[in-house]
Amino acid sequence: MSKTPEMKASDPATDKCKHLNIVVAGQGAIGSLWCWYLNQCSAVNLSLVTRAFSSPTCLAIPTLKKQLSFSHYNGQGYQYNCLLADDETLNNADLLVVCLKSYDAAQLVNNIASKLAPTTDILLVHNGMGVYEALSTGIKTTHNIYTCLTTHGAFRPTKSHVIHTGLGSFDMGRHAFVQNEPAPWFNALKCALSNAHWQTDIKTKQWQKLAINCVINPLTALNNVCNGEITQVQYLPQISAIAKEVSEVANSQGITLEANTIVEQALAVAQATANNVSSTLADVRAHRTTEINAINGYICQLAIEAGISVPSNSALVEQVNAL
Ligand code: PAF
Repeated sequence: MSKTPEMKASDPATDKCKHLNIVVAGQGAIGSLWCWYLNQCSAVNLSLVTRAFSSPTCLAIPTLKKQLSFSHYNGQGYQYNCLLADDETLNNADLLVVCLKSYDAAQLVNNIASKLAPTTDILLVHNGMGVYEALSTGIKTTHNIYTCLTTHGAFRPTKSHVIHTGLGSFDMGRHAFVQNEPAPWFNALKCALSNAHWQTDIKTKQWQKLAINCVINPLTALNNVCNGEITQVQYLPQISAIAKEVSEVANSQGITLEANTIVEQALAVAQATANNVSSTLADVRAHRTTEINAINGYICQLAIEAGISVPSNSALVEQVNAL
């Protein structure tokens, strides 16, 4: 049954949160999950950046609300309203959470950066790598940039409805830094989100996630199968070849990641998310651009720079891009 929550959550954990202005950019499955959970937290003033507002030619829009719906993995459904960001909310933001595909994220941040105060932190939530590198130098020197990796499952059957299909976790850390102290907004996010963890060294985690995506995403997309299917024995030679190349490239970047570990972790995630449609397969099915260039493509790019041969990963990028 559909419910409209009258009041925001008032559990003791939530009430301990520090008051925060958060703007979420991106209304895909993961962005929509963030919206629901942050909207429930009484310590958070939430607003959304829409695609039109993020265009460099758009000056301001009147403050409006967007009606959204959310289905919990326990089957409960809710409807709620979320404010749309305007120049003032952007300028007052403590945190901008960017939940866009890797190929759109840097452009959005570069476009709206002039509307942000220098004190606004930016949290990048995407698959693959290379977005941080594509941000303008001005943004990287003015703002603190953070990265978030997620294993939550979400599916968006319509533009305004998201289903939280599987409970996972959020791992966050300062991008390109080893930072022991959690960011000032982290405790508030921990109150609002399920399983949020601070990572002192997010780069190592990013590489582990990248390696898993390098295996699961292209194989599921090319074979049009759910994640669990690639644990079948016939995929093992290809998985081992991908893992060996990713391991070599990771080592060239100072990251220790054994090929055997990559195979084990990729198979474990494929098994744990057996009925999930990977994001790459979901993109192919919906005729959207995939993030393959930021996943296996990122490996190929670094391989060229390091003089490493990565035929399996190159072939996968070509084949997925041809779909
Ligand atoms: O991209 C995805 O779909 C996910 O990152 C993962 C871990 C492969 C699970 O589906």
